[in-house]
Amino acid sequence: MNLLLSAYDRAYQKAARPLLFKRSAYDSHLALMNWLERADSSRMLIGLCRIMRRATMIPDPVTVGGVALPNRVMIAAGLVKGFGFDDEGMAQTAVERGENIIPGWRSMPALAGVVEFGSFTRWPRTGNPGTVVWREVKTRSTQNRIGLKNPGAKAAAAFFASHKSDLPPIFGINIAVSPGVTERAQEKAEALESFSAFLEAAVQPSWFTLNLSCPNTEDDPRGHQTAEKAAELSGALVKLIASCGKSTPLWLKVSPCLSEAQYAALIEAASEHGVKAIIATNTLGQPSPDDPAITAGVGGGRLHIPALEACASLLKAKEAQSSTVDIVACGGILDGASLSDFTNIGASASQIWSALVYRGPLAAAVIASEHLQAKQPL
Ligand SMILES: Cc1cc2nc3c(=O)[nH]c(=O)nc-3n(C[C@H](O)[C@H](O)[C@H](O)COP(=O)(O)O)c2cc1C
Repeated sequence: MNLLLSAYDRAYQKAARPLLFKRSAYDSHLALMNWLERADSSRMLIGLCRIMRRATMIPDPVTVGGVALPNRVMIAAGLVKGFGFDDEGMAQTAVERGENIIPGWRSMPALAGVVEFGSFTRWPRTGNPGTVVWREVKTRSTQNRIGLKNPGAKAAAAFFASHKSDLPPIFGINIAVSPGVTERAQEKAEALESFSAFLEAAVQPSWFTLNLSCPNTEDDPRGHQTAEKAAELSGALVKLIASCGKSTPLWLKVSPCLSEAQYAALIEAASEHGVKAIIATNTLGQPSPDDPAITAGVGGGRLHIPALEACASLLKAKEAQSSTVDIVACGGILDGASLSDFTNIGASASQIWSALVYRGPLAAAVIASEHLQAKQPL
């Protein structure tokens, strides 16, 4: 680890984190959104963020799911996904007024590198009320039931289109299936409309992710992840992208704790329908700390083993089916060793969220550096 990065790591662990952890996880989350919103509008801060990233992130290029990435640690969906709105008109008006409806869109890529924006749903969502984020320090875990709060795909696309020249060179857009919609035809129509919003606005991500796993809405998370549904939606979306003259790769995102047979069927569906990568996994639905009757998604340390098992099942199926679908690891990657757990079994790249809480804003650089260091021959 270079000197600057180890000084940052020490300062975060010894000073910044204890201070931050005096506040509740939810208050810290709100403060972070505030900070990101302000940072996005400061040219000076953005410049500083870029300098910090370039000084700390060791290049480790890798091609995954049809995308050439500068290194193998990305920021997962869920951090940069924007404010919630009551309806599309209000979200669109905010964009027309020039408001920043997606805090972090400029500062997070500047500081942390590659970011997956979203999840965005077809319609805006205000998310769940009350406390919706928690941390469990002893296991370095997070738990949330934000409930897909976002401005909706159309307003998000319009927002990104209005900032096209300032978008990062590499980023993903994550679109979630509409929670609560059970009619397959409507669900497919809404997914297609969400993707169309970005394609028509000529917002060109490096990849699209279709998020099939929504543990923090009141939907059954597993109900979204049948191979049949993955096949139908992926096939239609890949065709839509091609019909717009684009070759943007499509990735899928799935839950932990599905059966081995279900992961194998998902690999088969993905391979058949032109999906380039599967992100495994989203959070694990568990009773929330404040009310055991309500589910909230666990990330970080407590997700590590279930996510690792999910990746192992997917990789086993990939090999058995001679599939070219790449596996992007996500779940409890908090240091170089937990990243190695995934790369050792064949995951091509990784995404992090909870590590931003436990290792701070330069978590991607710290983890990538620890991982590379562990690979160096002694
Ligand atoms: C507060 C929060 C919000 C999240 N929102 C989303 C989301 O909107 N879409 C999504 O695909 N994943 C979302 N996630 C899941 C993360 O992308 C990631 O899959 C999960 O946290 C596991 O990674 P981790 O163990 O590094 O936290 C969210 C996670 C957190 C902690």
